Amino acid sequence: MNREEDKFFKIILIGDSAVGKSNLLSRFCHNKFTLQFNSTIGVEFTTKTLNIDGNPIMAQIWDTSGHTKARAITDAYYRGASAALLVYDVTRHMTFVNTQKWLEDLRNHGDNPNMVVMLVGNKSDARRESVMVSTEVGRSFAEKESVYFMETSALRASNVEKAFSDVVEILH
Ligand code: GTP
Ligand code: MG
Repeated sequence: MNREEDKFFKIILIGDSAVGKSNLLSRFCHNKFTLQFNSTIGVEFTTKTLNIDGNPIMAQIWDTSGHTKARAITDAYYRGASAALLVYDVTRHMTFVNTQKWLEDLRNHGDNPNMVVMLVGNKSDARRESVMVSTEVGRSFAEKESVYFMETSALRASNVEKAFSDVVEILH
């Protein structure tokens, strides 16, 4: 196995529709944000090379729609994944409740018992107008499930880089 293959990680984005998975990805990879909602069709992935302690690490980040109907791809989507960002929308409580289902899905379909999972409460910028899921509630659920936790805003580019690079650092 060569060095490059050694430092390659598949990271998947999961979570309900419209929580901001695709915008987290586009913010991280292209520093781009789209206000208009375009639900993802099929499966997409983007590769980004990160520099961790002076070493290049390739992160291949997979994205798909959170719509239940579009979730026929589960096994292939989860296969070989080293990490998952499980995203909810802090302004919509139901998307947080559903993270429990996504965790079960991950545990049932994932083939990697050591998968690094980070719970991500996105849209932290919108919190002032509508606080639906507090930081404390998000964090304590993550602790209970033994997963990492981060709050992000793809809109404001807050903690997006950190969420992905923390995951890669944990894997590395
Ligand atoms: P599916 O592909 O259907 O699963 O949705 P998704 O999770 O990929 O959501 P997407 O990234 O398409 O974003 C959904 C909507 O939320 C869009 O209108 C975005 O502009 C908006 N959005 C995403 N991230 C943020 C954020 O951090 N803050 C705010 N205020 N809006 C956001
Ligand atoms: Mg999407």
